[in-house]
Amino acid sequence: MHAMTARHRCITTPIYYVNDRPHIGHVYTTTICDVWARFMRGLGDDVFFLTGTDEHGQKVEQSAAEKGVTPQALADENSAEFRRIMGLFDLTNDAFIRTTDPRHETQVQALVKRLMDSGDVYLGTFEGWYDAGQEEYYTETKAREVEYTSPISGKPLERATEENYYFRLSAFQDRLEALFAEQPGLVQPEARRNEVLGRLREGLQDVPISRTNFAWGIEVPDAPDHVIYVWIDALFNYITALGLGDQASDWYAQRHQYWPATVQVIGKEILWFHAVIWPALLMALGLPLPGCVYAHSFWISEGQKMSKSLGNFIDLEMLDRYVETFGRDALRYFLATQGPLGATDADFSRAQFHETYTADLVNTLGNCTSRTSAMIGKYCDGVCPADTGACAGGGVEWPEFTAARVEAATAAMERFDLAGSIAAAMSIVRQVDVFINETAPFKLAKDPANAETVGNILYRCAEALRIAACLLEAVLPQSVGNLREAWSLGDAGNQLGQACRWGQLQPGTSIAKVALFPRVEAEAVPAG
Ligand code: MSP
Repeated sequence: MHAMTARHRCITTPIYYVNDRPHIGHVYTTTICDVWARFMRGLGDDVFFLTGTDEHGQKVEQSAAEKGVTPQALADENSAEFRRIMGLFDLTNDAFIRTTDPRHETQVQALVKRLMDSGDVYLGTFEGWYDAGQEEYYTETKAREVEYTSPISGKPLERATEENYYFRLSAFQDRLEALFAEQPGLVQPEARRNEVLGRLREGLQDVPISRTNFAWGIEVPDAPDHVIYVWIDALFNYITALGLGDQASDWYAQRHQYWPATVQVIGKEILWFHAVIWPALLMALGLPLPGCVYAHSFWISEGQKMSKSLGNFIDLEMLDRYVETFGRDALRYFLATQGPLGATDADFSRAQFHETYTADLVNTLGNCTSRTSAMIGKYCDGVCPADTGACAGGGVEWPEFTAARVEAATAAMERFDLAGSIAAAMSIVRQVDVFINETAPFKLAKDPANAETVGNILYRCAEALRIAACLLEAVLPQSVGNLREAWSLGDAGNQLGQACRWGQLQPGTSIAKVALFPRVEAEAVPAG
């Protein structure tokens, strides 16, 4: 006998800047990665879910100076805030990398040294348009397009000259073009891929990868006046966390098998770094490329760009209030089903949150589970009936119907279509509602002669709901946990495929009443 080896899967979030405090954007990206990671673990895969903080660079140095603290102290404080959100929102990352960790720093130096030795990094002089707020250079075309003003901060771009180490990105033009043709799913969604292809056609220039005008960063090997550009430092986190820069490290021993990442999730504003510079760096190092770079769009708030002055900024405090009012699962559900996973931005509005919560969680999943368990309480003494086959009407081939929904939910999750996966699971719940209305067990139960039929109907309801719950557990871990407890279902563990097969629910199991999602009045939704 030999054990089946679990498939390795790796998912990453961007690493977050420590000069900002966490807000909905960070919670969103990390949450959708968490839903995917949980689902894949459920399927029995060996998943590595990585997140962390990006702690070097001029902005951190400046913010620290303004506050009168050292950059390291600022980084420590804010990185801790980011780690705190993992607990607050039930996020199950396997590692949290910090770029000030010496284990990251020494690997970054080793990786840069390898690029210097291969000639992919060289010393040269650079002049260009610089966005100081973003620590990013613009090409002439892009600078002209934005009228020499930062689209992010609104401040003028600066003309800057530097002696720098460069990454020979221009040498990767052909290889990148070939890559995008061969691996069309590398950059998603399609709209983002087209953007990248368009910009790629303008031609690639070498990119400076060192800075000399500040000190808060990793020194370039053998050139201590230069610190490594924060973006290069940051991109490398994805492989340093897995020890790929030091084969003698513990991280390598424990984690190297997780590279290449299955999916790297980012926001659309950092697409270029991840879709072009990152693959080129990996090619230069001779490392395999990720399966997919998925760039989601942005949350706006109440129809407008989030801003502190407009008072529509969804910060951690606001999210906490949502969690207090609706529970963590409700927030996760809203983010995963209503979020900007496609090419367009999504609106976080109080009304939409309330509507989604009430329609899907209270009126559908909550109501259907409570209705079913109440009937089993009333007509079957709280014990799961057996399905003996006879069943009046309803017209649903439950084993086939649920198997198709399970397959659809799994396939959607594979495509990182979280909303699609959740919709497939919810369609089972909706079908149970229809089935109850059509078969009317509450009417049949009035005549004791119908006891068997009623039992058969209720078994099918409970079993279908159990399967839907298994599929929803990745997004609703607490509520499904509550259901498991009330219905004595045990734990699906990493046997999701098996657990979703029809007929696993054992007759005789004690089914207690559940109320998963309390109704919340519209007035109780937190306001800014
Ligand atoms: N440190 C860089 C990333 C380096 S990765 C090698 C960075 N950090 S960040 O703190 O600004 O985080 C950016 C990420 O936060 C975005 O890519 C996105 O995942 C998330 N979001 C920030 N604001 C957002 C919204 N308004 N909406 C959705 N997500 C956004 O960039």
